[in-house]
Amino acid sequence: MTKSLTPHKDKTLFTPGPLTTSSSVKEAMLTDCSSRGVFFIDLIKNIRQELLSLSDVQSSNYTAILMQGSGTFGLESVITSTIAEEGHLLIIINGVYGRRAHKIAQTLKIENSVLEYNDDQVPDLEQIEYILKETPEITDVMVVHSETTAGILNPVNKIGKLVNKYQKNFIVDAVSSFGAVPIDIENWHIDFLVSSSNKCIEGVPGFSFVIAKKEALEKTAGRSRSLSLDLYSQWKGLEDNGQFRFTPPTHTLIAFNQALKELNQEGGIEQRMKRYQNNSKILIAAMKRLGFKPVLPSETQGWIITSFYYPDDPNFDFDILYQKLSELDFIIYPGSMSNLQCFRIGSIGRIFEQDIVKLVWAIEHSCQEMGLDLS
Ligand SMILES: Cc1ncc(COP(=O)(O)O)c(C=O)c1O
Repeated sequence: MTKSLTPHKDKTLFTPGPLTTSSSVKEAMLTDCSSRGVFFIDLIKNIRQELLSLSDVQSSNYTAILMQGSGTFGLESVITSTIAEEGHLLIIINGVYGRRAHKIAQTLKIENSVLEYNDDQVPDLEQIEYILKETPEITDVMVVHSETTAGILNPVNKIGKLVNKYQKNFIVDAVSSFGAVPIDIENWHIDFLVSSSNKCIEGVPGFSFVIAKKEALEKTAGRSRSLSLDLYSQWKGLEDNGQFRFTPPTHTLIAFNQALKELNQEGGIEQRMKRYQNNSKILIAAMKRLGFKPVLPSETQGWIITSFYYPDDPNFDFDILYQKLSELDFIIYPGSMSNLQCFRIGSIGRIFEQDIVKLVWAIEHSCQEMGLDLS
């Protein structure tokens, strides 16, 4: 047996997903069930209803569609299935996930324009309005809500107002925000919102979901450039017999149903947001005390994930810090900002104030061992 296949021990994940989940969510998976049976069909129905209720939208106007695969599959499903053959997608980019959406559009040979900003910059509303006004061929606009690259929370409400003013379809990547950041889908004029099972709902990986405005969705029949990622057909399948068209991730869906129950028990999105905000506040204050500087100013810093600059100390080595923390059963995340030396720590998942305190203690201890001057 290779070293990496020795028995695994749970670690606390301070990452943006997969993330730390509750024991009850993990235990919920200890069952095998038929994907065509009544239990499972009822479970799918319940998950779809719960997602609409969390979104605070009516089932007469919106629907929740579950799609196999991670967040990227959900995003690709929306892009491939909703943009017309003669459509033109504007992608607002300020991080890796905006760039990924662009790559999806390029791969699918969808006409597109981009408005690109630095990874630590908030998109400029005047520029967005200008391009919408001057480029009438644009039919669809896409933006990431919580850009997990730096941790920025983008102003989707204000962008939505402009998208609505110019009568475009609006696609929002809410993969890392849905469940812990209030999103007013209707008033922010969102036609297709995408998120996934293993982020702020605190489920395990395996599927993504789309909250779609029926009026926009109904126009997309036959547009998909893919068979398995065809959003419209997936919706019709779920509506017709309550089932997935192809093998669903049964265990993941059962775990997700449990995670939804636990989200409601915690007090819904509002209370989950408060816990994550508290995690984030304590983390930033404690890291600052150790001398680490957050990349983002407090005005644009969201509460999902925080990027910290590498300290200006020759003894600092991120790989060594990562290894030392991992040996203490804490997992943090490398940075992914273009041209910036930074690392990231997530505040989401089944983690609480005491976990953050322990993590920061472990960071301090590891930095001391590395010979960093933390005075
Ligand atoms: C904002 C955002 N969009 C998309 C994705 C891609 O999701 P996945 O890695 O599940 O495909 C992520 C993953 O972290 C994300 O944070």
